[in-house]
Amino acid sequence: MNVLVTGATGFVGRQLVDAMLTETDHDVTVLVRDATAYEPPGDVTVVEGNVLEPGGFEASLEQIDVAYYLIHAMDARGDFAERDRRGARNFALAANAAGVERIIYLSGLGSDADKLSSHLASRREVESILATGDAEVTVLRAAVIIGDGSASFRMIRQLATRLPVMVTPQWIRTPCQPIAIDDVVAYCLAVLERPETAGETYEIGGPDRLTYREMLLKTAEIITGRRPLIIPVPILSPRLSAYWVGLVTDVPKELAYPLIGGVRNPVIVTDDRLAQLVDVEPTPFEVAVRRAVSTEVGTDERLEAVTRPGRDAE
Ligand SMILES: NC(=O)c1ccc[n+]([C@@H]2O[C@H](COP(=O)([O-])OP(=O)(O)OC[C@H]3O[C@@H](n4cnc5c(N)ncnc54)[C@H](OP(=O)(O)O)[C@@H]3O)[C@@H](O)[C@H]2O)c1
Repeated sequence: MNVLVTGATGFVGRQLVDAMLTETDHDVTVLVRDATAYEPPGDVTVVEGNVLEPGGFEASLEQIDVAYYLIHAMDARGDFAERDRRGARNFALAANAAGVERIIYLSGLGSDADKLSSHLASRREVESILATGDAEVTVLRAAVIIGDGSASFRMIRQLATRLPVMVTPQWIRTPCQPIAIDDVVAYCLAVLERPETAGETYEIGGPDRLTYREMLLKTAEIITGRRPLIIPVPILSPRLSAYWVGLVTDVPKELAYPLIGGVRNPVIVTDDRLAQLVDVEPTPFEVAVRRAVSTEVGTDERLEAVTRPGRDAE
């Protein structure tokens, strides 16, 4: 198959391209915004382009059978949801014109019955925009992905290790079902090989359901051997929480604020059809954290590059 990976410079995209090259014999094309800054990990066709600029990225879709959409726009100031909407629309139109058969999109967990945060609502909107074309879309919905380079895990890690005492918002008690990056990649590859997953929406998660408090405590214990004291208080609004996280961690605020807005929504798997269908051994949270922190090298530089000073919305 001819497979396109968008977001190939990102946390998930990088790992997926590596796995495609080592575990499959598909022909891989990647779409990157700056080809000069991208070192291909092997035999991949590199196409430069930006999904916000119609006319400039469509060559990446020529002869493609299946495209992974691993893009989000929380990397610059301004309205990320508007940019995500526009990027998904441009991509769906271009995929249609190129005759792409399938799109695989990594989205966010969370119940439609809840009032979803702007971040999670935007993920849902992208799901439906991608589905407006002729390509059949497979959606994988995940909560926090644990791995080297994951912005959401980076926030957890830095909060867990930088503060011995934390006065936290109430969302610290929200349940979450984090998933290891290895498992995410395994599910991404598994759906590619199973045509019956085309057109389906699946939820994916690890074996542990934890509150954010439990994730912070376990992460701190693994890294420092100590558990911080966590004191939830009712007075911290989502906006104040975002400022607080912005002060303690170095995740760019364009990324941190929407992610923090999402932590009031429970993100747990309620439908495990994909886990029943494919053989992916779920990685325990603690194993995933140990792997992530043992490989977390060079991430600072990459995350800083995500939001370069002065970078504005396109
Ligand atoms: N990480 C998690 O915990 C998590 C959890 C659930 C779902 N997801 C979803 O998984 C997907 C991938 O997330 P990630 O963590 O890998 O994100 P990431 O590391 O921030 O990577 C985002 C990628 O999108 C690319 N991109 C952004 N705007 C673009 C544009 N206009 N045109 C072309 N490429 C563009 C970036 O390229 P540049 O290098 O040029 O910036 C980068 O490669 C997203 O949809 C996200 O919502 C992630």
